Amino acid sequence: MKEIIDVKLKSRTVDFVTCETDMLVTGHFSDTKGLDKVNAELNSKLDGAIERLIKLGDFNGKDETSEIIYGNANIGAKRVLLVGLGEKKKATLDTIRRAAALAANRAVSMKAKSMSLALHRAFGGRFDLGKMGQACAEGAYFGSYRYDEFVTENEDGRLGNLGIEVIDSDPSKTKELDKGIKSGVIIGQAQSYARTLMNRPANVMTPDKLAAAAKEAARGCKGLSCTVFDEKQLASKGMGGILAVGSGSHNKPRLIVLKYTSSRVSPKAPAVGLVGKAITFDSGGISIKPASNMDQMKLDKTGGVSVLCTLKAVAELGLPIRVLGLIPSAENLPSGTSYRPGDIITTFSGKTVEVQNTDAEGRMIMCDALHYAEREKCDIIIDIATLTGACKVALGSYMAGLMGNDEKLIKQLQKAAEDSGEKVWPMPSGDEYAKEMKSKIADLKNIGSKWGGACTAAAFLRQFVGEKKWAHLDIAGVDIFEKATEYSAEGSSGFGVRLLTSYLMSLAGK
Ligand code: BES
Ligand code: MN
Ligand code: ZN
Repeated sequence: MKEIIDVKLKSRTVDFVTCETDMLVTGHFSDTKGLDKVNAELNSKLDGAIERLIKLGDFNGKDETSEIIYGNANIGAKRVLLVGLGEKKKATLDTIRRAAALAANRAVSMKAKSMSLALHRAFGGRFDLGKMGQACAEGAYFGSYRYDEFVTENEDGRLGNLGIEVIDSDPSKTKELDKGIKSGVIIGQAQSYARTLMNRPANVMTPDKLAAAAKEAARGCKGLSCTVFDEKQLASKGMGGILAVGSGSHNKPRLIVLKYTSSRVSPKAPAVGLVGKAITFDSGGISIKPASNMDQMKLDKTGGVSVLCTLKAVAELGLPIRVLGLIPSAENLPSGTSYRPGDIITTFSGKTVEVQNTDAEGRMIMCDALHYAEREKCDIIIDIATLTGACKVALGSYMAGLMGNDEKLIKQLQKAAEDSGEKVWPMPSGDEYAKEMKSKIADLKNIGSKWGGACTAAAFLRQFVGEKKWAHLDIAGVDIFEKATEYSAEGSSGFGVRLLTSYLMSLAGK
């Protein structure tokens, strides 16, 4: 197996014009007249090339656009990449994150070995420099990410290393940027690792392999520990939901428990439980799915992997908090030993569930892990799961569904979504929906009526968290880029790592 492209990122104090680099990256808003200071200076050294480009109408600064200008003897850069930042009044931190991602994507495509980001200059004092540094780093990792560990024959060859730097000519500014860059590198790398685990196919990434990855992550991070329950331990604990879903596959189910505690945590700080669905492959089971796009169901472990990599990031950031990561993992396959429609399963909580559709397996494994989080006395429980096609129908591939039982927690997650650029949209999951999940022959059934599937699924989960503060993220739809975009290669999006880490950073006062 080949290594994924190795990206190193740091800050540097250097003059924009003399900076020697394969690609110097600056930004330009679509609605500003003239050029800002950096672009104006580059323009004069380039004999007016930037101005000509804009005058010709070949570049207008719109979102998702970029143009290359080749360097000359007057500047240090071999290329200048001008990135469109859209309208100035609409700019957010995600504008700079996406611009950095676009630039890194292009740098990898053209095999540049070094890239220097001067994007923050266009924003003036609008955002905190540290936050802009963080966004640049996160974006740079995001855009440079490729998944090619199984490609043995690649005609074009591939760039092995990319050195990225965020630059400013003023050392005090570089210092400010650097504060956020350190966090951005940790978060960006955690998200890239998440994307690799997510992209790995189901024959490679089985529940026990995912557990091994979690153990390895815990070994490498201070304050992080990992325990794994195998199928025998799941049986002795009575985790009937996870066992039922895993019963059809030779690859046995697991419950991965990650614990992070900082030595600096205040005794009053809340304990947060993160619960992530990790179905390594969802064929639907006996209620089998149609063949088309079934390969995408290798990404049904996205929630679980995002929890794993969030804990990795949180530990590396050394946040002064307590977090419990719970990752129920199973493979949902049809076989002679599978659970079936009609089965009644006794879950870890003692609640019984009538299975009406084996393809509604996510909730069957999540309910055991949610109850575990409640028992472990988590004050706040957040779950993340590629739970329903209905959520994808409702929100498309731009936003995750956000449900919950606590207004404050929902607001905090909405704020984290704004900061991280991983978007969420509020949806209901109250009594009306819960009523649909009642069974005549058990406490609950695992599917509701034809309509409102994302809401009924959430209403099912809600019944396993007791009185705890709880929020649910349905990430079906945002887990994948079906096609490559300006910012990203196709495949896993890594959704969840930035959002959850951002929430936990705010909780820790960072
Ligand atoms: N993993 C799927 C949901 C999914 C669908 C994720 C599309 C990503 C893209 C989930 O396990 C599932 O199959 N849900 C069923 C539930 C139904 C049987 C009530 C669905 O949405 O069809
Ligand atoms: Mn399913
Ligand atoms: Zn599923």
